[in-house]
Amino acid sequence: MEEVIKYVKSNLDNYVEELKDYLRIPSVSTTVEHKNDILACAKFVSDKLKVAGMKKVKIFETERHPLVYAEWLNAPGKPTVLIYGHYDVQPVDPIELWDTDPFEPEIKNGKIYARGADDNKGQNFVHIKAVEAIMKLQKKLPLNVKFIIEGEEEVGSESISKFLKENKKLLACDAVLISDTSLYGPDIPTINYGLRGLSYFEIELTGPNRDLHSGSFGGAIANPINELAKLISKLHDKNGKVTIPNFYKDVQRLTKKEKENLKNLKFSDAKFAKEYKVKELQGEKGYSTLERLWTRPTLDCNGIYGGFTEEGAKTVLPSKATTKISMRLVPNQTPRKVEREFIKYVKSLTPKSVKIKVTNMHGGLPVVIPLDGKAIKAAAAATTKAFGKKTVFTREGGSIPIVVKFMKQLKAPAVLMGLGLDTDDIHSPNEHFVLSNFEKGIYSSIYFMDEFSK
Ligand code: BES
Ligand code: MN
Repeated sequence: MEEVIKYVKSNLDNYVEELKDYLRIPSVSTTVEHKNDILACAKFVSDKLKVAGMKKVKIFETERHPLVYAEWLNAPGKPTVLIYGHYDVQPVDPIELWDTDPFEPEIKNGKIYARGADDNKGQNFVHIKAVEAIMKLQKKLPLNVKFIIEGEEEVGSESISKFLKENKKLLACDAVLISDTSLYGPDIPTINYGLRGLSYFEIELTGPNRDLHSGSFGGAIANPINELAKLISKLHDKNGKVTIPNFYKDVQRLTKKEKENLKNLKFSDAKFAKEYKVKELQGEKGYSTLERLWTRPTLDCNGIYGGFTEEGAKTVLPSKATTKISMRLVPNQTPRKVEREFIKYVKSLTPKSVKIKVTNMHGGLPVVIPLDGKAIKAAAAATTKAFGKKTVFTREGGSIPIVVKFMKQLKAPAVLMGLGLDTDDIHSPNEHFVLSNFEKGIYSSIYFMDEFSK
């Protein structure tokens, strides 16, 4: 494989230029206004897969955004790896906080800046270029490869979930390789073995049937913003625990071995706080920061709005107030159980003076992947080779709900080969991807295909 690595090195500038083309497509999945960009992006991915030498490249229409599939199955007797990624990206707002145009990629200090640079175009492009390089030099791959790249990950992966159920044969594999997570730190080769699950709600409180003068009515009619603030403040206790009944009932305790692993990762609270400019960290008492981030469930408001938010001061008692609340879940919590308890609880906390409307947006199961499988071992060997250092094993605080579905329905382990960094500002202004991680990611993918074929 060394000649392939050399070839990648000499071609890296071209690969980065192609990545820029990928990043120029504003494939935001949330709003209909980007429908044509989404279609263009699916076409872009399928063209790149063809150039890479993949066969049966096909765009599957769905109820929402298309899926791109490709395969190369000319290695009889060898294992099959299914490579998953997503070509859709998060919206760019607040646009005024970007230093450069989110869809005109720019390279500064070895990092490429654009929406989707890390999450997930940069990370999935790694595998397309790895396949292309091997095919160019060796005219064949060491194992069977399938790709499935979706366009709805950032909005809940509904179409691919349905597609998976109906196409288990097409997607059958021995392992699912995914780069949509993070390295433990700069230049630290990492395999992630866990993701948190998710349960997402919108809560709307309505007070009076219209906005009222806060002087004439304040003191007699409930203010939904005041009531929402009270409600939110009751969702945690003074020890940082979520107060929803039975919330922790199904939470698995960590094994001694895992506690040990987390300890050995030597996390610095002070450095972490400094990076994000906060004076101190906070969270559930009695757990280390890594435990709280990766192995404990949490509840957060993602947004809150209502009433007068323009410049100046207007006196008003608003009719409505809204918040978006997400809960991150860990094994063995399930969105289904958490959702039921959550709805019951917030309703019980709401006084008669306001009406409450609770909308369940989406959810996903948490996962922990066993570390003793052949695919994980091959991946760890591959990243160690690519980065020239020992691979560490971490869990993640984020969620990729399709992962559990892949594992259950294809009966294959997922390999989370994270290549981003937590400082890459995904979902935030100035998202970027470190180009050396792009490069080492391609090496990791090449070495993985070689190792897993043995
Ligand atoms: N790439 C992320 C998942 C991720 C983020 C993994 C951070 C590890 C660390 C993915 O694209 C994502 O943003 N997922 C969503 C869930 C989805 C249902 C909207 C998330 O975690 O909020
Ligand atoms: Mn994302």
